[in-house]
Amino acid sequence: MGRAGALFAERPVLLAARVIFLWPPDGHALMRTFIMRDENGRTSGSWGAIGALIQIKDGSLSVRDDRMLCEAREVNRELKMTHLGEFNRRDRTWHPPAFDPNYKSTVLRSPNRPLLALGQSTNEMTGPVFGTHHLDPLDNDLIANYQQGGEPIGERIIVHGQVLDEMARPVRNSLIEVWQANAGGRYRHRNDTYLAPLDPNFGGCGRVLTDDEGRYFFRTIKPGAYPWRNIGSDWRPAHIHFSLFGEAFAQRLITQMYFEGDPLIPLCPIINTIPERGGVEQLIAKLDMAEMVPFDCLVYRFDLVLRGRRQTYFENKPEGH
Ligand SMILES: [Fe+2]
Repeated sequence: MGRAGALFAERPVLLAARVIFLWPPDGHALMRTFIMRDENGRTSGSWGAIGALIQIKDGSLSVRDDRMLCEAREVNRELKMTHLGEFNRRDRTWHPPAFDPNYKSTVLRSPNRPLLALGQSTNEMTGPVFGTHHLDPLDNDLIANYQQGGEPIGERIIVHGQVLDEMARPVRNSLIEVWQANAGGRYRHRNDTYLAPLDPNFGGCGRVLTDDEGRYFFRTIKPGAYPWRNIGSDWRPAHIHFSLFGEAFAQRLITQMYFEGDPLIPLCPIINTIPERGGVEQLIAKLDMAEMVPFDCLVYRFDLVLRGRRQTYFENKPEGH
């Protein structure tokens, strides 16, 4: 075998891969690493801009720059958890249709040709992976993370829940981003011109990572309802916007959480695009008095389900793992 042939024979086979997105502490660069595992279970990596910073050998990742140590620990943990398998297709009869004439802005933005199914790429199936040191300790505390010398106005609440996939497996290390209006129903955004005042001590944005059981929580102010221009004036029920990255881009979900007992829920044209009543119920957080913090916060529970991966079925365990 010639030299080139020998090099080719020694190349690791891409049996498993994970794309890792790394943000250095200064937050200016997005960098990626591809991890490959060969048939003997050894892991190696290829890298671009971060070649000078990161080395991967025999399944463990080391760094030459102390700033990245934290991240390396996270990545090593992820390497142990790496598992590949395509994600199931979304159930489009459960999700709302892209076009609904009663929700005016869907008329122009919805596709007018049939959808095409595209294959899932390694990028979508393996990343991004987030490290805990990307988050500030106050990121999941919307009551505290924008204070300008005072407390924000409104009902103090905690929202918590668990993120599972379709097979009821916990979705770990998923970044959840949340944004919302203040207690008066106004967003801190230049395009929001609603009459309600801005709260100088409330920003309305936060984020949190799910733990190993897929659980998360954040503290905030209960948002107010607000009017919007649809077909005339409609009202949005109180809600919190959620963005979930899942364990990979293929699980990405952007949705909204509503509050149990809100009389505006059945009147909302956006909610009424959801075809099944069960789909609406999944978006309504339940008051969780068992977790209430006395003389401080009411608590709402909001669980989420993301699409799952295909799994191996075993003769002696038909339900899989
Ligand atoms: Fe909203």
